[in-house]
Amino acid sequence: MKKNNSRRTFIKKSTLAGLAIPLLGSTLVYCDSKAKKEPKSSDKKQLNILILGGTSFLGPHQIAYAISRGHKVSTFTRGKTIPTIHQEVFKNVEQLIGDRENNLKALENRTWDVVIDNSGRKVQWTKDTANLLKDNVGIYMYTSSTGVYYPYKGNDISEDTPLVLNMPEGLTEDQEYEQDYGIMKGNSELETIKAFGKERSIIVRPTYMIGPGDKTDRFIHWPLRFAQGGNILVPGKKEDLVQYCDVRDVAEWFIRLAENKSYGIYNAVGPKEKQTVLEFAKEGAKTFDTEASFTLVDDYEFLKDNNIFFTIPWVIAEGDHYGSARISNTRALENGLTYRPLKDTVKDTYDWWLSDAVSDERKQNYANDPNSLMAKENEMLSKWKKHQGIKN
Ligand SMILES: NC(=O)c1ccc[n+]([C@@H]2O[C@H](COP(=O)([O-])OP(=O)(O)OC[C@H]3O[C@@H](n4cnc5c(N)ncnc54)[C@H](OP(=O)(O)O)[C@@H]3O)[C@@H](O)[C@H]2O)c1
Repeated sequence: MKKNNSRRTFIKKSTLAGLAIPLLGSTLVYCDSKAKKEPKSSDKKQLNILILGGTSFLGPHQIAYAISRGHKVSTFTRGKTIPTIHQEVFKNVEQLIGDRENNLKALENRTWDVVIDNSGRKVQWTKDTANLLKDNVGIYMYTSSTGVYYPYKGNDISEDTPLVLNMPEGLTEDQEYEQDYGIMKGNSELETIKAFGKERSIIVRPTYMIGPGDKTDRFIHWPLRFAQGGNILVPGKKEDLVQYCDVRDVAEWFIRLAENKSYGIYNAVGPKEKQTVLEFAKEGAKTFDTEASFTLVDDYEFLKDNNIFFTIPWVIAEGDHYGSARISNTRALENGLTYRPLKDTVKDTYDWWLSDAVSDERKQNYANDPNSLMAKENEMLSKWKKHQGIKN
């Protein structure tokens, strides 16, 4: 029962934050080979950009970068989510109010060069806005997810991997929940292309985005833990890979893709080179001036018995999640995705967490969560020592 709860929590946290699960047999694959690839800002014309959403995690970083490059930005939201990062830039943003469910009036009879659809949570929402805007906007950028590749099978999932676009029969409740998100994102991509055509669509599929402003608490374990030093429990097998991308690297790439008119479908996946979970931990721990050692807890059954199924960016690499950290970034690299050093992400996320941008209540809840790896670490390390003794 406990295991199920933990598994469900994992699924919910993953899907809510934009990562879920994949597909088969679509014709979504294309990439404009003529698109310009260099991330330059000079010689670019000023763009009028509409962001559907824009006030939560990815959006504020896109806006800050777009404005720094001389572009103009409008957002479209219900006016409920108040930005907690880059608040200063919003005084230069036109804030349009409506509801993707039933009120798009503020978008009527307006023109923009680019629309970025961050807030696409239903296929119908994307269909409605893409159709409303197709004659008045140049480019539609859809913020998808590597969740379209669920169930993550194989060792090198690329933009050419066929997607699942309809719910398969015979799934468990949990599998359906995960599959649903990928199907929604995959079909939303199709609606984008139906309305704007391949020649005016840019689809970006981010993996786990991490960094300042994250609305989930799924990555903060690592900056907090690295800062403490000491013996750090690292879950996963020696060969387990991790994938993640600093939200700012993704946000900035969006704007450059728009500037360069780089039409196509792209995974937004990092790091640049393959990285195991142990390499991630060792690299991340260098952020702080503390002594650290590492204990790799590499027995999946032991981890599951302790309700550890994921500690993002690590996800247990079995079953439908086997390939979730085996997604290709080749096309992204060829088209200008750049990566800041992991230690910048860790440090900035740590500083952000300690700042007023994160409420005391949230910090307290996290610190008092008895199910977090942080809370269970010492006990697990002792148990692991005994477990090793029994095994040897
Ligand atoms: N986080 C990840 O790791 C990750 C990974 C892969 C993909 N993604 C995808 O990335 C995208 C960006 O997520 P984000 O939260 O960072 O985006 P964001 O653009 O910063 O914020 C989401 C926005 O949606 C608006 N919104 C919500 N419901 C609305 C409605 N009914 N009508 C109009 N606006 C509405 C919210 O404002 P109001 O509440 O004021 O309406 C908010 O501005 C999502 O599509 C997600 O699936 C995320």
